[in-house]
Amino acid sequence: MSESVVVVGAGVIGTAVAWRCAQRGLSVTLLDPAPERGAWHAAAGMLAPITELHYTETPLLHLNLDSLTRYPSFAAELSEEAGQPVGFRECGTVVVAWDGADLAALQDLHAFGARLGVESSLVTGRELRALEPALAAGLPGGLLAPGDHQVDPRLLHAALLEAGRRRGVTYVPSGASVVGDASRVTGVRTDDGTVISAAHVVIAAGCWSGAISGVPAAAVAAVRPVKGQTLRLRLPGEPVLRHVLRGAVKGTPIYLVPREDGQIVVGASSEEAGYDVQPRAGAVYELLRDAQSLLPELSEAVLEDVSTGLRPGSPDNAPLVGASGVAGLIHATGHFRNGILLTPVTADGIASLVATGELPDVLQPFAPTRFSPAEVPA
Ligand code: GLY
Repeated sequence: MSESVVVVGAGVIGTAVAWRCAQRGLSVTLLDPAPERGAWHAAAGMLAPITELHYTETPLLHLNLDSLTRYPSFAAELSEEAGQPVGFRECGTVVVAWDGADLAALQDLHAFGARLGVESSLVTGRELRALEPALAAGLPGGLLAPGDHQVDPRLLHAALLEAGRRRGVTYVPSGASVVGDASRVTGVRTDDGTVISAAHVVIAAGCWSGAISGVPAAAVAAVRPVKGQTLRLRLPGEPVLRHVLRGAVKGTPIYLVPREDGQIVVGASSEEAGYDVQPRAGAVYELLRDAQSLLPELSEAVLEDVSTGLRPGSPDNAPLVGASGVAGLIHATGHFRNGILLTPVTADGIASLVATGELPDVLQPFAPTRFSPAEVPA
């Protein structure tokens, strides 16, 4: 009989881990009472290692770049196995400067990327308009990151669930509590009391990962919810944007992600609001105001959807991926702003850890054990 794995959480990380484990011949059970509450449902799907960069996060940038290189084959293989599209678009990203201070920051970003071998080019205001003719007039310039792309997280998630199903993953619509003691985990108990024994339990429950009952105190994941709101809009006629567009309007970050079918995803707020998922009028207003400042035509758009998600933030903004320090318990969580981008490298790494006992080198800096229990939020 094949070795068994239980994955707790059926967001994009959990479903991808389940699919990759099943591909290796493992017997996989995937549990989640409500997968659609996952951060993926609100996520825009930017695959943006360079334009989402914060300078203090160089190790994370290397992981992001590694995962980006996996995306074309990951998306193609997934789409083939699931028999459905995943919305991966190699469209590049344009970052717009709002003023001279933004231009200087983009020059720094360009130089930093160049030192790490990441391609980008600075563009003048005129070149910006040539790249994106629908942009507001008078913007002073920007940066083109031709390697920063996008995927549609809703299509991605549906394909991951289907590919897993075709590979024999058993999906159980239930919460889970972990079974075991302080030194070893032996399985999970579902909401109806059924115990599922497993050699490995993978916690991939996003911002809820730290609240799974039964996890030994020393191995509780150090994650917290960071609320993000996104909008989905549609303009009549031909799509007006060619690239993912990012910028900061008077200092407030904004992004516009154009789907192939003409929908534009606008995001995102970033709020420390606990587990609250109510849409907030002020956040919607600010997103519409700033998006329209960059793309005036949006005043004519239909507002199709307002979504709220909870990013799984960690103390250093980097994920927790690998052995938890308790035998049988593995974490794949804490991906914060990069969950969609980091899905391929996380799933490949966890499947390797489960099947061979080896976590690939690229994931070693992100061991969950780097945080002491004292840093775990109450
Ligand atoms: N990665 C985009 C966001 O977290 O808003």
